[in-house]
Amino acid sequence: MRIGILTSGGDCPGINATIRGVCKTAIHHYGMEVIGIHGGFQGLLTKDVEYITDKSLSGLLNLGGTFLGTSREKPFKKGGMAPDGVHKPTLAAQNMADLGMDCLVCIGGNGTQKTAAKFSDMGVNVVSIPKTIDNDIWGTDFSFGFDSAVTIATDAIDRLHSTASSHKRVMVIEVMGHKVGWLALYSGMAGGGDIILLPEIPFDIQNISEVIQNRVRRGKTYSIVVVAEGIQTDGIKRPAEYIAQEIERATGIETRETVLGYIQRGGSPTPFDRNLSTRMGGHATELIADGQFGRMVALKGDDISSVALSEIAGKLKVVTESHDLVVQGRRMGICFG
Ligand code: F6P
Repeated sequence: MRIGILTSGGDCPGINATIRGVCKTAIHHYGMEVIGIHGGFQGLLTKDVEYITDKSLSGLLNLGGTFLGTSREKPFKKGGMAPDGVHKPTLAAQNMADLGMDCLVCIGGNGTQKTAAKFSDMGVNVVSIPKTIDNDIWGTDFSFGFDSAVTIATDAIDRLHSTASSHKRVMVIEVMGHKVGWLALYSGMAGGGDIILLPEIPFDIQNISEVIQNRVRRGKTYSIVVVAEGIQTDGIKRPAEYIAQEIERATGIETRETVLGYIQRGGSPTPFDRNLSTRMGGHATELIADGQFGRMVALKGDDISSVALSEIAGKLKVVTESHDLVVQGRRMGICFG
């Protein structure tokens, strides 16, 4: 059997470890051949590939990014039509056949899962693996990359405490997460945030300002506000800069903002993500060997299982107010808006 593997969408720590998990298991355990596709679905359209050998797989476990490269190419966009009239999905399937690929392994986030589902609907053999720092993929408890991003963001929040304390300031830190608040919730709680704003929970600047002023009355001379990049009011995105300005205006307390940005996506994966990547990669290969196509591997509790791509495509896993971290946080006096 010969499989193709690609990584698509924004990168994150753990992709290389996942490629390693897939390829080592495929080559050593199942005797499969593996072709690495460069630059996500773009490489499938141009046949930009490399043959993966055991040698290609050294030094990958702790390496950030993706050695195959990635892109946000979506072959089904605009009805799949390229400007030159070529139907991209048909071209991709033809290229797979030309390269002798029996199955395509897609490592990616929500957009990639959607694309993988569409290829599966076309009759292409696909198996996918959930990857994102946003943790917003339906059907899996966690995606690899999330734990690493939480670790980086938590370290950043930890560092803000001392400088906030020295200057008696309010510090607003914006973390990624796209449309959901998982990263803000997990890093905000782990980093001891006093106010945590998520896209899923409406917030009110007046209320936040009162919370901060009450803290000052109780002798808390500084406050840490963690905001998810996706927060909005009146349908308008509200970045950290806006939140900081509004808090300073309402409280009169000096307020500074920090936008953490792409640091959250760079560098080495945590041990948790390395092991999750290894397990997911291995299980993806098992699905292929068993002929179970059109599925995404998923973490459920401590078990790796799989879900049908048709079940998850187009859905978003969001934070709910009943999540235990929100419930326990509220009981401890943390403000969520
Ligand atoms: O999905 C991962 C993510 O890092 C989001 O948190 C963020 O909104 C987005 O990607 C940034 O995308 P880009 O790499 O296109 O700037």
